[in-house]
Amino acid sequence: MSETLAATTAPTTARRATPRSYLMCRPDFFTVSYRINPWMHPQQPTDTALAVRQWQSLYDTFIGLGHDVQLIDPIDGLPDMVFAANGGFVIDNVAYGANFTYAERQPEGPAYMQWFGEHGFRVAEPKNINEGEGDLMLVGDTILAGTGFRTATESHREVADLYSREVVSLTLVDPNFYHLDTAIAVLDPLTGDHDANIAYLPSAFDEASRGILAERYPNAIHVSPEDAAVLGLNSISDGLNVVIAKRATGFEASLRERGYNPIGVDLSELLLGGGGVKCCTLELRK
Ligand code: ARG
Repeated sequence: MSETLAATTAPTTARRATPRSYLMCRPDFFTVSYRINPWMHPQQPTDTALAVRQWQSLYDTFIGLGHDVQLIDPIDGLPDMVFAANGGFVIDNVAYGANFTYAERQPEGPAYMQWFGEHGFRVAEPKNINEGEGDLMLVGDTILAGTGFRTATESHREVADLYSREVVSLTLVDPNFYHLDTAIAVLDPLTGDHDANIAYLPSAFDEASRGILAERYPNAIHVSPEDAAVLGLNSISDGLNVVIAKRATGFEASLRERGYNPIGVDLSELLLGGGGVKCCTLELRK
């Protein structure tokens, strides 16, 4: 088996699923026409119809698990809009808007903010560069905030003030894992016992951040580079069911050992844009 465990296996707690509400965007206009991360190769062809079919299987999986899925209309000319996780960060019915790093994605920020405003969320306009839930992840009452490639540390402070929650900054160092949600999976934000409630790829972080993660989450699952390289960490958990990349078989086995129910989906076409399960999904916390 390729994955390693951070510490001796913690006592198994009964995992419990809670229904979630998600926002997704059909990849009707998905393609790779520019390069803003190492996964993207604009000269290689993409199959938009296949992307839509694969995305549909993710949507159907969430519905099958009993989750609520809202949809935002895709916009022609914004091929990355399918990666809804970057559209904002929503807690307590407050949507912190995204302010994208690269010009190619900047129009997505206002589009998502408009959706939040029209669907009953209070919208907080961002003052600093941030890519939403791609770099901002809620674990229990703590917000883990990524920086290094996209989201600016100034936005971490903005988020701390906005939500009055502890924000822990983590620095990403590997360009293949440019968003926090490609390097960390939040598995069980509801239990405070630190029993495998996150999984991560240690080598994606600088030394200081690795120290912080090891101290806070001693029983985290450490995934292998092989599983991370198929964006295995880019996953969605409801506390029991964890929707992951089908090819992340080592991570799948670790999840099973820790009492989770992994469910594999194939999003190979969207991987050409550098995104996976989590990138396609924004949690709406009301
Ligand atoms: N092509 C997109 C970008 O580079 C992919 C975004 C992936 N999203 C995520 N939450 N990791 O911005």
